[in-house]
Amino acid sequence: MRSTLVFIFAGLPLSLLAIARPQRGILLPGQVFGRDVEGPCDVSGITLPENAQSLPPPTEGLQLILIAQGTGTQNYTCADATAKPAALGALATLVNATCEVAQNALGTVNEDSAAIGVHYFVDASTPDFDIIGLGNTELKKVATVSAPSSDDVPFLKLMAQEQGTTGPIREIYRVATRGGVPPADCSEQKPNSIVTVNYTAQYWFYSCVEESV
Ligand SMILES: *[C@@H]1O[C@H](CO)[C@@H](O)[C@H](O)[C@H]1NC(C)=O
Ligand SMILES: *[C@@H]1O[C@H](CO)[C@@H](O)[C@H](O)[C@H]1NC(C)=O
Ligand SMILES: *[C@@H]1O[C@H](CO)[C@@H](O)[C@H](O)[C@H]1NC(C)=O
Repeated sequence: MRSTLVFIFAGLPLSLLAIARPQRGILLPGQVFGRDVEGPCDVSGITLPENAQSLPPPTEGLQLILIAQGTGTQNYTCADATAKPAALGALATLVNATCEVAQNALGTVNEDSAAIGVHYFVDASTPDFDIIGLGNTELKKVATVSAPSSDDVPFLKLMAQEQGTTGPIREIYRVATRGGVPPADCSEQKPNSIVTVNYTAQYWFYSCVEESV
């Protein structure tokens, strides 16, 4: 991956790279993402699933550049048997599901295909996404809406913060969740234990990528 990026950058005139430099972060040319702009995996026409429509929409000017399927655990702590489980973060492996979602063929996502990145938490309220070729993104939750089923963790909108963000991703939506909901109470847990609950979700990544560079 690294050598591909170097090759693409080497092919760009220096003046273009200078123009592409944004006020913050890096503004990468569309080709770097290898976006399939007109092919069967084009995502330019697709919109977030119905329940996510009650979240604030992506900020104008941002473009959907990647849809990943995350598989992992949502983590909770139980201080003692009378406490409610408290969110502690999550850990998930991300695979590229862009084509499958674009073609409405989610059942065909191969969760064992090569990971393109990882999702974890730097602290209890700061999710982090580290993706090959797209740098690191640290975010804050800005909106939540219930999933269609209460067995699934809510849909979210996350916005990138400057600190810890090295790439062009500005907003991420967590949608199409399955699982991840904590037990109703801590009565079955040992004091100060960590409860991990399996989940999957789609993560939709929006970036300030400039197509025309
Ligand atoms: C994800 O898959 C799409 C479609 O195959 C591809 O264009 C894109 O480069 C991939 N993105 C990443 C970050 O691997
Ligand atoms: C969450 O649980 C996973 C095990 O699924 C663990 O590897 C990870 O370190 C945990 N993260 C936190 C913040 O507790
Ligand atoms: C959680 O996922 C792991 C890894 O896929 C699996 O081994 C484990 O059985 C799952 N646990 C439950 C309770 O489904």
